[in-house]
Amino acid sequence: MKRVSSHVSIASEAEINLDLSRLIIDKPRFTLERKRSFDEQSWSELSHRHNDGFDSVLQSPAFPSGFDSPFSMGTHFGGPHPLVNEAWEALRKSVVYFRGQPVGTIAAIDHASEEVLNYDQVFVRDFVPSALAFLMNNETDIVKNFLLKTLHLQSSEKMVDRFKLGAGAMPASFKVDRNRNRNTETLVADFGESAIGRVAPVDSGFWWIILLRAYTKYTGDVSLSESADCQKCMRLILNLCLSEGFDTFPTLLCTDGCSMIDRRMGIYGYPIEIQALFYMALRCALQMLKPDGEGKDFIEKIGQRLHALTYHMRNYFWLDFHQLNNIYRYKTEEYSHTAVNKFNVIPDSIPDWVFDFMPCRGGYFLGNVSPAMMDFRWFALGNCIAIVSSLATPEQAVAIMDLIEERWDELVGEMPLKICYPAIENHEWRIVTGCDPKNTRWSYHNGGSWPVLLWLLTAACIKTGRPQMAKRAIELAESRLLKDGWPEYYDGKLGRFVGKQARKFQTWSIAGYLVARMMLEDPSTLMMISMEEDRPVKPTMRRSASWNA
Ligand code: GLC
Repeated sequence: MKRVSSHVSIASEAEINLDLSRLIIDKPRFTLERKRSFDEQSWSELSHRHNDGFDSVLQSPAFPSGFDSPFSMGTHFGGPHPLVNEAWEALRKSVVYFRGQPVGTIAAIDHASEEVLNYDQVFVRDFVPSALAFLMNNETDIVKNFLLKTLHLQSSEKMVDRFKLGAGAMPASFKVDRNRNRNTETLVADFGESAIGRVAPVDSGFWWIILLRAYTKYTGDVSLSESADCQKCMRLILNLCLSEGFDTFPTLLCTDGCSMIDRRMGIYGYPIEIQALFYMALRCALQMLKPDGEGKDFIEKIGQRLHALTYHMRNYFWLDFHQLNNIYRYKTEEYSHTAVNKFNVIPDSIPDWVFDFMPCRGGYFLGNVSPAMMDFRWFALGNCIAIVSSLATPEQAVAIMDLIEERWDELVGEMPLKICYPAIENHEWRIVTGCDPKNTRWSYHNGGSWPVLLWLLTAACIKTGRPQMAKRAIELAESRLLKDGWPEYYDGKLGRFVGKQARKFQTWSIAGYLVARMMLEDPSTLMMISMEEDRPVKPTMRRSASWNA
């Protein structure tokens, strides 16, 4: 294999484990290198390395060559795909300017749709794939501007009726308000006060931290993450999710609709999407927080939380054939510390479908775990983030990918990737969604297929050494996306139909495709969002003075 010469950006992940005495972070040593694509041989080597530090082979930054769509080198696909140019063109059209500066991308530019709702806004979560695409194309300004603008919005007063939201809350979205008479522009944010259901996004702050790390890791420019403003912004976000309360679990208690699934879908409690993003954001923050004054306290708190969160997630959220069988045989009403069925889950509550769905080889993180409640649904985003962030152990990461392979028809079908599986129907749909006509079975958030998830699937494939799987998914998307006008989501068990109310020219469908393709062309770009496994703490060897003798 051709060696990718080493590039160390924020910190060597191996150094960042849960040993608080070792939380000092290396400064980046950034060198730009020419981009090279992985050839088949590198892939096979990569696939043999999925149990150890992936970052060690993926530590070269993509080399931005300055072309408009430079990453369609076609090494893995046998030639550039016409879609790539189309996608770049569409992505560029979605750029939002504020006082002459690019600050984000609009959620969708669907001229055919009468209802704009809030799709004319820049969503924090939606901008992440756009940002990654721009970073890979060496267009870093838009990402920096976005991070700074949203940071300033964080300090605005957030009220829902007469209730003031926490200082750390980040907006779900913002838009540029233009006053043509006065010739002024202002940024107007939505923290949930205008959102359907009035829910504040829990994921925005986490995505913000994750993006700040991606920016820093890619550009090698630490001045942004080290600035007083960014340090404060991180502390405020962390303050919201690390504050003490009545919790007995290290996971984060959330309301329905506080993430990508921003409507009632029965994910209240401890949804996997938020827990995985929480874990990843904590680890990203750990790499970027300065160990001074206030920062030091947060570093300590993060270390303790990560320790407990990792244990909780890897043990109680994990489901494979063996664990399903254990739960099936659980005793209930166990009192005391020796209880096996800690959350008193009643085996009768296991839905029938899961017994057929669970392959002998494979596993996944459950949708939700709380007292007497396990949501057995499979959720794409949480499971992919668990892989890229190394919340999943290497064995669990392999098992998640095995399950996707085994259940390809159900989870990928004709359009990657199902947001969750399976759909809820009938009476359950009425109770859980409140009869939501947008979330009928196999549509939208309820088992719909979302092209944006392609980039996360690709990242997970690369990390686990399965590029062929990503390639297959990308080709499926390529056969439909342009033809269908980049829809927001697809409907049906196999994802064959353009979604009932799907927007066209949905920006994150476009950007998600570009990121997936560029990442597969140059797997070293994975380092922007990938984290190495946290290594077990090695006890410090204390040698006595006489040791050398
Ligand atoms: C929908 C999605 C949400 C997304 C928004 C803008 O509301 O559920 O995740 O951020 O559209 O695209």
